[in-house]
Amino acid sequence: HVAIIMDGNGRWAQMRGRPRLMGHHAGARRVREIVEACPDQGVKYLTIFAFSTENWKRTQTEVAGLMKLFRRYIQREARNLLANGVRVRFIGDRVRLDDKLVCLMDELELLTSQNELVHLTVALNYGGRDEVTRATQRLAHDVGTGKLSPADVGDETLPKYLDTYFLPDPDLVIRTSGEARISNFLLWQSAYAEYEFIDTLWPDFTPFVFAKVLSGFKARDRRFGAVQA
Ligand code: FPP
Repeated sequence: HVAIIMDGNGRWAQMRGRPRLMGHHAGARRVREIVEACPDQGVKYLTIFAFSTENWKRTQTEVAGLMKLFRRYIQREARNLLANGVRVRFIGDRVRLDDKLVCLMDELELLTSQNELVHLTVALNYGGRDEVTRATQRLAHDVGTGKLSPADVGDETLPKYLDTYFLPDPDLVIRTSGEARISNFLLWQSAYAEYEFIDTLWPDFTPFVFAKVLSGFKARDRRFGAVQA
């Protein structure tokens, strides 16, 4: 399971003297190539951070442009994703997203629900703290109604309430564009993940770069807190 923080679209466009949104469009084209590279790379689960709960602080033009891009992307890519065996699911809080977009997200999830070659999860209006908060509300609700007893809450309980209940934990988290932060992405789930922070800006993240990062990861020794066998 590889999770990616797709950063650097804005800088990529600015370096070319173009508006930031043009960088997001270039980034969206990369998403398709990276998803298509997954089967060959042995990546069964790919999770991408498309829009964070903090991204609403950007200008209205950029936010509206991104929302339009997500709608168009779903409409244009649906057929291709279906044909390529990709199952798409979304995580994040849908309440703040517009109805038309939520409708397209639901349709795409349903349309691709029988696929299993690649599981693509798109984080949209997602924040790790927000996710844990919403999960805790639901858990508390179940305790309140007697469905769950406090004594039965163990470390396997909360994950069942998280947006990612259907996903294994990420093995590798990649962040592009040179920033070494996790920015509220998959906080609970990444407890044992490996991290790769690479300088490449997201629109320059080709399947070749992806393969290089993955081969570095495969050479790592993951012990999950244990000693070497
Ligand atoms: C970060 O770059 C990128 C985003 C906030 C948007 C990510 C969206 C895409 C790659 C578009 C396509 C996605 C899908 C699922 C169709 P930034 O704007 O923070 O770049 P900067 O740090 O250079 O300003």
